[in-house]
Amino acid sequence: MEFEQELKNKVSEAESVIKSYMPDVIDMQHTVLEAMEYTISAGGKRIRPVLMKACYDMLGGNDKLIEPFMAAIEMIHTYSLIHDDLPALDNDDYRRGRKTAHVVYGEAMAILAGDGLLNYAYETASKAFLMIDEADIDDVAGVKEEITKRKRVEKAMSILARNPGVYGMIGGQVVDVELTGQTLSKEQLEYIYNNKTGALIEAAMTIGAVLAGATDELVDKISKTAYNIGMAFQIQDDILDETATFEELGKPIHSDQDSGKVTYVTIHGMDEARDKVKSLSESAIDTINELKGDGEFLKELVKFLIHRKN
Ligand code: IPE
Ligand code: IPE
Ligand code: MG
Ligand code: MG
Ligand code: MG
Repeated sequence: MEFEQELKNKVSEAESVIKSYMPDVIDMQHTVLEAMEYTISAGGKRIRPVLMKACYDMLGGNDKLIEPFMAAIEMIHTYSLIHDDLPALDNDDYRRGRKTAHVVYGEAMAILAGDGLLNYAYETASKAFLMIDEADIDDVAGVKEEITKRKRVEKAMSILARNPGVYGMIGGQVVDVELTGQTLSKEQLEYIYNNKTGALIEAAMTIGAVLAGATDELVDKISKTAYNIGMAFQIQDDILDETATFEELGKPIHSDQDSGKVTYVTIHGMDEARDKVKSLSESAIDTINELKGDGEFLKELVKFLIHRKN
């Protein structure tokens, strides 16, 4: 199958999984549920659940345990976008081609919608425990490094708890916000990108690997790949902020410049930034080549992201 068609299929698979786990818009708190639904249903590339599933498939995963985690990672990502766009952070009025949640529902409701999505992500992921059939556990034990399904879900939950937090995405956002307007050292820029963007991509990919029963050694390799993909993804995001159109992005262009952000592009220039996206992606592909399993789709996806237009 052509890669682009395969990607389309995988994105729509992720879409329907996400949809199936979203809460109904009902009851007295319907406004916050509507704001959650408004932002998540606006679309987006769904890169994180697709990367999660790609790693899971590549390493031989074959059941539905992955699905609540696919939905959860997109809920966490969407919460991070709602909060990232708030006036107190990047102050952006458009996201995914729609007015941002705080513009439509007001700041208080946008903060609560972000909180709601974050919390509901864990409620959703924890449903994986209920999907474990005790009879399966004996089957699985001993076949793949004695990692039972329950252990895999526990490990996946702990990644999902840690990476979006203060030692991951939030940590990156904190330094991004605190250092806005200042020039960044190489270490500061790397810290910001690895955490605000890399940490969720790492969570997505390593959760896919862990649920498929990967060994610690294999998970480490996936993690290294994920950080290269994450860094490339954020540099490309900075490039697009300067080069894409509003119609392509569905979010404001020149947002970094307007808010005084120093980025990889402002420090190194456009050409070097493009080269860096390429070389990081090539490193990611080299590591995927060292893995056993069919990494074709994942490699094509990494190549596709180098030239993405949104
Ligand atoms: C935007 O993420 C935030 C960054 C980490 C750069 P995406 O570019 O994945 O946003 P959506 O999900 O497609 O809207
Ligand atoms: C994204 O960084 C970090 C998040 C955790 C949301 P940006 O602030 O550059 O993302 P966009 O450009 O608004 O999507
Ligand atoms: Mg930001
Ligand atoms: Mg932003
Ligand atoms: Mg950006």
